[in-house]
Amino acid sequence: MTGRRAEIQACAIEIDAGCSDRLPGVKTDDPELPDHVVRNRAVWDGWAPEWVAAGERNWAAAEPGWGVWGIPESQLRILTDVDGLDVIELGCGTAYVSAWLARLGARPVGIDNSPKQLETARRLQVEHGLDFPLLLGNAESVPYPDASFDMAISEYGAAIWADPYLWLPEAARLLRPGGRLVFLINGYLQILCAPDSEDAATDRLLHDQFGSYRFEWSSDESVEFHLAHGEMIRLLHRAGFEVEDLIEIQAPEGATTRHAYVSPQWARRWPSEEIWKARKTR
Ligand SMILES: C[S@@+](CC[C@H](N)C(=O)[O-])C[C@H]1O[C@@H](n2cnc3c(N)ncnc32)[C@H](O)[C@@H]1O
Repeated sequence: MTGRRAEIQACAIEIDAGCSDRLPGVKTDDPELPDHVVRNRAVWDGWAPEWVAAGERNWAAAEPGWGVWGIPESQLRILTDVDGLDVIELGCGTAYVSAWLARLGARPVGIDNSPKQLETARRLQVEHGLDFPLLLGNAESVPYPDASFDMAISEYGAAIWADPYLWLPEAARLLRPGGRLVFLINGYLQILCAPDSEDAATDRLLHDQFGSYRFEWSSDESVEFHLAHGEMIRLLHRAGFEVEDLIEIQAPEGATTRHAYVSPQWARRWPSEEIWKARKTR
């Protein structure tokens, strides 16, 4: 490995030493960072301790399980034929998806906006004897050259916390022709039915669909992004992707979750999560 990529990798594995300040667009106090990135970094650094246990469970899992219901990989087939692929995980959090990818023979790189989440990821790498680059940064502006990856993936990472008008074109830039994009997010209907409180989604539409984009909640300072399906399809096409599938997840019978924002009863009736699969065609 030579040049810029080697420099990036060397920086990435030294995240604890503050080396990330030398990468473009990733300074913790960078006045150029969009306000939602600054706000989400502070919020996720605060939430990071609550995500350690899930990270540990998922790193140790024998079979990948996706989303809040832990739907098995054998059912969703997200990680098929990844052996030998260069993969970027956008908003990797504790990086268990990257760990699953590494065990399947892929070469993952994880990028995340929260130093605290990456501390957990780094500790779990050491404990599990896996080593892949972890970058502190904003998935809307990734310090890798064009066409560096065969696959981009996000499970509730950049896919809901970054601006879709920025991170989706950035994912397209990072992918080689024919590259795969997969992301798992809240079901759009679940967002429309989400009250502005800690309570679970209701059976009423509480938000407008038209104009749906940036969401802020009274309970914290975080910023999320949710697009209606038509706008998402148009945006993906404009970015150079062809949509291959949109899987709407139904909670399995008897499912439980630690997350208060959706109940198993609701998610038996409506899709609380959705998975988009797209391919870069140009
Ligand atoms: C729910 S975690 C996703 C990781 C993991 N799949 C999970 O579900 O636990 C969300 C992650 O997105 C990260 N994130 C938020 N905004 C981001 C951005 N603009 N760029 C990169 N990562 C971001 C947060 O720091 C957080 O670690």
